Amino acid sequence: MNSDRKLFLFIACSIDGYIARPDGDISWLSRVEAPGEDYGYARFMDQVDTVVLGRKTYDKVLEMGVEMPYTGKSVYVLTRQHRVPEGNVRFVNQPVDRLLDDIRSQPGKHIYCDGGAELVRQFLAFGLVDEMIISIIPVLLGDGIRLFQTGTMESGWELLDTKSFASGLVQLHYRQARKNS
Ligand SMILES: NC(=O)c1ccc[n+]([C@@H]2O[C@H](COP(=O)([O-])OP(=O)(O)OC[C@H]3O[C@@H](n4cnc5c(N)ncnc54)[C@H](OP(=O)(O)O)[C@@H]3O)[C@@H](O)[C@H]2O)c1
Repeated sequence: MNSDRKLFLFIACSIDGYIARPDGDISWLSRVEAPGEDYGYARFMDQVDTVVLGRKTYDKVLEMGVEMPYTGKSVYVLTRQHRVPEGNVRFVNQPVDRLLDDIRSQPGKHIYCDGGAELVRQFLAFGLVDEMIISIIPVLLGDGIRLFQTGTMESGWELLDTKSFASGLVQLHYRQARKNS
């Protein structure tokens, strides 16, 4: 098993902890796309060669009609439906711990869980997230899809870095504090 391949979250949420409005809308994220501000996504993606995401998040990306942000990566979309592969995108139906074991049985770079919350909950329930980079967007939504849902395993996190930007975005970088580290 290649444990050098860490599992990362790189995700944005509102001040009140939502990743999307109740209907899945994420247009509020663009409030902070200020010219000249670099939130480190491209640098982060250079360290990653595999992306794992839930079917709802994948469909949202397709619906947005933007260029796929996962060019050149191996992409696994978790779904309980049957879908045929689309280019570098494979649709898989298995527990997240088994999927991660399969990915880590191959050599490669780090692994990026792009969400959504259903997937984050499952990876956290197994204690499998190594690092998380959370960008807090300066907005209160009042309701929506919570980043951290009930069912996550209690865990301690070491703060590696914080960045703040003139737009009001604050980025937190945490590493899971392992008992033996
Ligand atoms: N703010 C951000 O940075 C950010 C990041 C990511 C996502 N989002 C937003 O979050 C919303 C989606 O999040 P979400 O939590 O509702 O959904 P999600 O996690 O993206 O997708 C959930 C779906 O994944 C599939 N799934 C989950 N676990 C599975 C497993 N173990 N095996 C097989 N299939 C599994 C199921 O698909 P089927 O129903 O097909 O079976 C399930 O309905 C979207 O609006 C998206 O835009 C925001």
